[in-house]
Parts: sequence; C-alpha cells; structure tokens
Amino acid sequence: MRLDRLACEALLLTRSQSRKLIAGGKAAVNGKIVRDPAARVDPQRDTVTVEGKACRARAPLYLMLHKPAGVVCATKDPKEATVLSLLPDQWRRPGLAPAGRLDKDTTGFVLLTDDGAFAHKVISPRKSVWKTYLAELDGPVTEAVAQAFRRGVVLNDGPCLPAEIRAVEGAEQTAEVRIREGRYHQIKRMFAACGLHVISLKRTAVGGVQLDPALASGQARPLTEEEKNRIVL
Ligand code: URA
Repeated sequence: MRLDRLACEALLLTRSQSRKLIAGGKAAVNGKIVRDPAARVDPQRDTVTVEGKACRARAPLYLMLHKPAGVVCATKDPKEATVLSLLPDQWRRPGLAPAGRLDKDTTGFVLLTDDGAFAHKVISPRKSVWKTYLAELDGPVTEAVAQAFRRGVVLNDGPCLPAEIRAVEGAEQTAEVRIREGRYHQIKRMFAACGLHVISLKRTAVGGVQLDPALASGQARPLTEEEKNRIVL
C-alpha cells in the first residue's frame, strides 16, 4: 500500500497531514527516511514510523450486510443511498467496498471488505465461489428452464458458466439458483432468456456461508474467522 495511506490509517491523520509529514522527512521505512508519500510499503513486512510512531496496518475487516432493496452496491453515489451508508461509524474505513454487486432492487448477503486480494477471489469466476439466490418468478420453473441453466444459458455477452437450479418445494414459481459469476443483471437475464421475469431476488449465501437469519434487513456484522474461511475454499 502507499506510505501516505498507511500513515493516515495507523495514526488517524488526514491525507494532507500525512503527505506533509512524509515530504518533510518525518517518515522512515526500515530505518531509512522516505520522502515520497506514494512510496509502496508492505505493512506486514516493513517497519514504518512517522515522527517515531510505529504505523501498523489494522487487521482487515470482513462484514456480512443484509442489504435492503433501494440501496446501491457502490462506495459513493451522488443520488442514491449506498451500502456503506448503512454501516455504523465504527466500521467505516478507507478501502472498504462491496465484493461484488447486487442490483438496487436485489436484497440479501453483501460481503464488504478492505482486503482487496480476498475480494478479488470472491468475485473471480475462476475461483468458483458460488453465490446462492432465491428468485421469485412470474411462471413455473420447467425442466426445460432447469436444463438450460445447467448447460449454460447463452446471453448477448456470451454463454454463462453452468448454473445450479432447483425448484423450491411448495412454491413452483420460486427457484434457488447458484452461480459463480457476477455479470450485470445475470440472473434476471438468464431467466429472461428462458421467457421468465424475476419478480424478486435475494442472495442467501456466498460460498459456504448463509446469510445470518438473525441479521435484520439493513444490519451488518463482522464475519467470524471460521465463516471467512468458508467463503473462499
Ligand atoms: N443477478 C441479477 O440479475 N441481479 C443481481 O443483483 C444479482 C445477480
């Protein structure tokens, strides 16, 4: 990470205070003065001090948010409420962002983290982190629809990876769908390609972790270490 960012986070400085101190020769990396605020440092390996105070990286944060409808999965938006705006101050920090996006009207499990490498693994189709959704539809899920999903529905931006789908018992117009990609409006477009309209969509699990039923809509909580390890296997 950048030296000025580490100093900001560790010492609770503003970006300009941190840059001024660094440019003024107050920062040392492994005992040597570094005056470039953009210098790259590895907080796990490098010993960084500013005015003699040790700058240690905070442990990364992993949050499970129960997203309500009507908020956008973005860090900033000029008009709309964002998932970050739902969080209490204690969890807001630079770099915290949703790992993957849900549509504004989609509800359910959003993972928020400031661990960029972890977020990348969650999002990358190659890592096969399955995301599970409950979709309410305007018609029944026939065997033909299920087969199309299992083979890989072809969308206008290319074929989807095979998805898993099962009808929910006692609710023939509701399906549980599992996908390992996160393309724009993917599930809505997959059903539309099969002649069905999605009335509501909820993400119920990411990897091996279910949305906590005790988490009310709009609430968040940190993942346990054990849950974090069940997201990316
Ligand atoms: N697929 C969609 O169509 N929308 C979402 O929000 C997530 C998956």
